[in-house]
Amino acid sequence: MPSTTAARAVPARRDLLMLGIETSCDDTAAAVVRGDGEILSQVVSSQADLLARYGGVAPKMAEEAHALVIDQVVQKALDDAKLSESDLSAVAVTIGPGLSLCLRVGVHKARQVAKAFGLPIVGVHHMEAHALVSRLVNKDLDFPFLALLISGGHNLLVLARGLGQYIQLGTTIDDAIGEAYDKSARWLGLDIRKGGGPALEELALEGDPNAVKFKVPMRQHKDCNFSYAGLKTQVRLAIESKNLCTEDVPISSALEEDRQSRANIAASFQRVAVLHLEERCQRAVEWALKMEPSIKYFVVSGGVASNKYVRTRLNQVAENNGLQLVSPPPSLCTDNGVMIAWTGIEHFVVGRFEDPPADDEPDDMQVWHDCRNNELRPRDMILVMLPLAALNYYS
Ligand code: KG4
Ligand code: ZN
Repeated sequence: MPSTTAARAVPARRDLLMLGIETSCDDTAAAVVRGDGEILSQVVSSQADLLARYGGVAPKMAEEAHALVIDQVVQKALDDAKLSESDLSAVAVTIGPGLSLCLRVGVHKARQVAKAFGLPIVGVHHMEAHALVSRLVNKDLDFPFLALLISGGHNLLVLARGLGQYIQLGTTIDDAIGEAYDKSARWLGLDIRKGGGPALEELALEGDPNAVKFKVPMRQHKDCNFSYAGLKTQVRLAIESKNLCTEDVPISSALEEDRQSRANIAASFQRVAVLHLEERCQRAVEWALKMEPSIKYFVVSGGVASNKYVRTRLNQVAENNGLQLVSPPPSLCTDNGVMIAWTGIEHFVVGRFEDPPADDEPDDMQVWHDCRNNELRPRDMILVMLPLAALNYYS
């Protein structure tokens, strides 16, 4: 069982002040959130430039980039909230899934702050945070609800029955949709400094979504799983078959006809990628309503949920089934510290937190997990060691 003894008295929920730290992938983020959901600050330092230069996240480089800015990011979150560390009630930090080198930077910082100021610490599951931030956005959103979580590394359909109680209805058997957006954007020669997904979404507006006949994945599988590897390959083949020199000619220098061909591929990819989401979500809604007929909300979150076309199409799925779509604003869909702080609050108020680290404990994450393993806490272990098992870890 998680520890319930804090070093200081637990304030009323409304007065809680939670610092959230997120470093699982390529964004260094921190935020301060009040127990009632008021966002007091939100800071994100992006590594998008590095990403564009190297075509993907290189863990060692990402770790260094996090380490370079983490102190400033946390300090700015405190300054913007007009608070100091001693005003905080606790610190929440992402402990998985993600790149372990990167996670380590956030955990190290969180433990440093917690130790120095005697603050409890809450380890947060990144995907649970994507789901739960919707409860900050919509205060009426009670369990149970259905959630689609779509990001660079995950494609999850879960039935959220309660805090920490998630039934996985579907996951990807290969790539996540965000990965397909990112690779397609790169192959199309787009400027991905602000992210592959947003760049592709923008170009798709100029294209004909029916111009290229891509095959919708997994129609023969009557389940709620996803597959995007084949669609990625179809995009690459379409680019090759049109002899587009996308590697040598960036979109900004492309001739009109070439640009139109790329836009057609982008729009056709997006139509089919999202149609795949729609089809699996329709089945998941039916499954979920059989298990929990009281469901009223369909949550769509994670980086790809900031896409307007995705939101519009999934809103239609929700409406067709008498459900209400809840999708956080884009700044809370892509990785951020608010979702970590908020999930920290959700767990903290039910007593799921660690005591402040002792003075003689090192700040290293491995040691932290070793300590925790000694307390036999299997759900945390599964969460860190089997990140793809995602939200099933409590069940
Ligand atoms: O949740 P997130 O910020 O980080 C991970 O946990 O992976 O999601 C990042 C993913 C990236 O693949 C990014 O290209 C995608 O979300 N994304 C988008 C859009 N904005 C971000 N995909 C499509 N359209 C967008 N507007
Ligand atoms: Zn994420």
